[in-house]
Amino acid sequence: LELGWGIVSTAAVADGAVAPALARIEGARLVGVVGRDRDRTNAFAARHSIPFSTTRYDQLLALPGLDAVYIASPNALHRQHVEAAAAAGKHVLCEKPLATTVADAEAAVAACRDAGVKLGQMFQTRHHPVYGELAAVIGRGELGDLLLVECQVSPGNHELSGWRTDPSLAGHGTIFNLGVHAYDLVRWLVGSEVVDVTALLDVGREAQLERLALALLRFANGTLAYVNANQVMERRRPDLTVYGSDGRIDGHGITRQYSADGEARIVTAAGERVVPAPAVDLFERAVAAFQRAVLAGEEPPANGEDGLRSVAIATAVARSAREGRVVELARVASEP
Ligand SMILES: NC(=O)c1ccc[n+]([C@@H]2O[C@H](COP(=O)([O-])OP(=O)(O)OC[C@H]3O[C@@H](n4cnc5c(N)ncnc54)[C@H](OP(=O)(O)O)[C@@H]3O)[C@@H](O)[C@H]2O)c1
Repeated sequence: LELGWGIVSTAAVADGAVAPALARIEGARLVGVVGRDRDRTNAFAARHSIPFSTTRYDQLLALPGLDAVYIASPNALHRQHVEAAAAAGKHVLCEKPLATTVADAEAAVAACRDAGVKLGQMFQTRHHPVYGELAAVIGRGELGDLLLVECQVSPGNHELSGWRTDPSLAGHGTIFNLGVHAYDLVRWLVGSEVVDVTALLDVGREAQLERLALALLRFANGTLAYVNANQVMERRRPDLTVYGSDGRIDGHGITRQYSADGEARIVTAAGERVVPAPAVDLFERAVAAFQRAVLAGEEPPANGEDGLRSVAIATAVARSAREGRVVELARVASEP
């Protein structure tokens, strides 16, 4: 079984991570790429041995043998790129955030549902094997009731650049660059939905693009979470701690871990054990998992609904910080 893939935009993440991953994944055939600039797109195609290169998205979508697209355009373009792919009957793996507003994310989910195509969201972190083990530990009740999750996600000190400095293309700053990854990860681990959000941003209540976002989340099952998403900390701690009534997980270097080795220490009355978290290619694992799901006719492990939920949490984080209040997630979609 094979899947024919097209890549939407010659983005850094497509060039450096996903196109090389697709070249390694069994059954993945890279058939085309679309970008805005002919020479740059041709060069991208040559680098990754892609047989077809175009500056017109409709031409990519009409390509024989194309089954799925990977969308890596700037955030605000995701909705229209998802909708066009769905209309052409192509499965979609979309980069995060799924869209820049809850309404756009809902439209992207609806377009794929109505067209009967799968919509996957690139949340690669949960594909690290360490999270399979941590989810199992939580699922078996080894920690008792989950009380609190603390999570920091940060690439270090990174200025915003390129389209990320344009609010009309980026939507938000670090909330969309890093935050959505952490909101999804924590929500997935807790296995419940966020009901309340309280947040502070480094930019205060100003309508500027943030680089530090602190969020407090309350889940329907009673678990609380503290999420620090930032791109300002030179000495970051990409850590995740889970406190349960009967135990704790100390995760070090596991929230954004592409090269350094991490580990998770599980601490319960039965003692301590360490789950190593060596560097693995998370993009390759995420793309392969999406492809397996599509070929099996199953729902992708991180899907459009997960993308939509994380956009809703992100939107609530921004709104809470700007308006200085607790935001109920159930009301986010209906508020202007
Ligand atoms: N999952 C992850 O961890 C992860 C990591 C990095 C990025 N991402 C996501 O992937 C997407 C791309 O990020 P990136 O850092 O790889 O992007 P990037 O390299 O900065 O640029 C993205 C691409 O978008 C197109 N583009 C740039 N400016 C544009 C504009 N003004 N109008 C229209 N198109 C424009 C360009 O492609 P063409 O010229 O070919 O059209 C460019 O190569 C984003 O949504 C980002 O959030 C996810």
